[in-house]
Amino acid sequence: MAQKPRTFKFEGVTMTHYFTDNWEKVKNFKAKPDDVVIATYPKAGTTWMSEIVDQLFFGEIRRESSSPSIFDRMIYVARNPKDIMVSYYHFDRMNKIQPDPGAWEEYIDKFNTGQLVFGSWYDHVQGWWEKSRSYSRICYVFFEDMREDPAREISRLCSFLGLSPNETQKKEVLRKTGFEEMKKSMADALSNNDEFDESVSPFMRKGIVGDWKNHFTVAQNEAFNEEYRKKMKESDLKFKMEI
Ligand code: A3P
Repeated sequence: MAQKPRTFKFEGVTMTHYFTDNWEKVKNFKAKPDDVVIATYPKAGTTWMSEIVDQLFFGEIRRESSSPSIFDRMIYVARNPKDIMVSYYHFDRMNKIQPDPGAWEEYIDKFNTGQLVFGSWYDHVQGWWEKSRSYSRICYVFFEDMREDPAREISRLCSFLGLSPNETQKKEVLRKTGFEEMKKSMADALSNNDEFDESVSPFMRKGIVGDWKNHFTVAQNEAFNEEYRKKMKESDLKFKMEI
């Protein structure tokens, strides 16, 4: 495997060539009417939401109880910035196609200044938040809410997607998309993946809210809170840093 990639600005956003080599195709992507698009900033729960949507559509539920009228739906998953940073930092350590994260102290600054791959978390979460208010076809979901009450959030998703699973089906989706269950299935799926070095840090790491408390010093936390307040002051978007 080649060296860790360098980052550069691409259309104003920090990127690596792994994500821009195919840019024409990405730019020309057109969703089909029955596609469901999942969007997230890295480490917000992309894999988790993908598994839930996959279970909802390709498990038993859709065939039995869905309306046929899915059209252009988008699900956005947002996660609090402190846990994103911790998760992303460990991901950058273990993923050979991500840039080297460097020291943790500097990582917080890179996060705040949009230097991590995919750019500014602040722009991402706020941009989608604004869009979700004008387009009812975007469902804005929080990782923390999924952790707090996955059954409630899956029900909300089902309403959005026009699905009406019965209690047994819901329980099955919950079981299959629980952290431990997914950790087992991901271990198999990733066993031949040579981009990830799970001996450095597992992909399914902890899956909790509040792990940032094990990484931020008191001073780092205070400095980050100050920066966060400034950058989010215009927005009514609120994150739970613990549950
Ligand atoms: P941690 O590193 O904090 O454990 P993404 O898929 O966007 O890369 O996000 C990965 C993060 O989502 C990881 O966070 C991972 O553990 C967490 N995650 C994935 N599946 C999960 C699940 N079923 N329940 C809780 N967290 C999950």
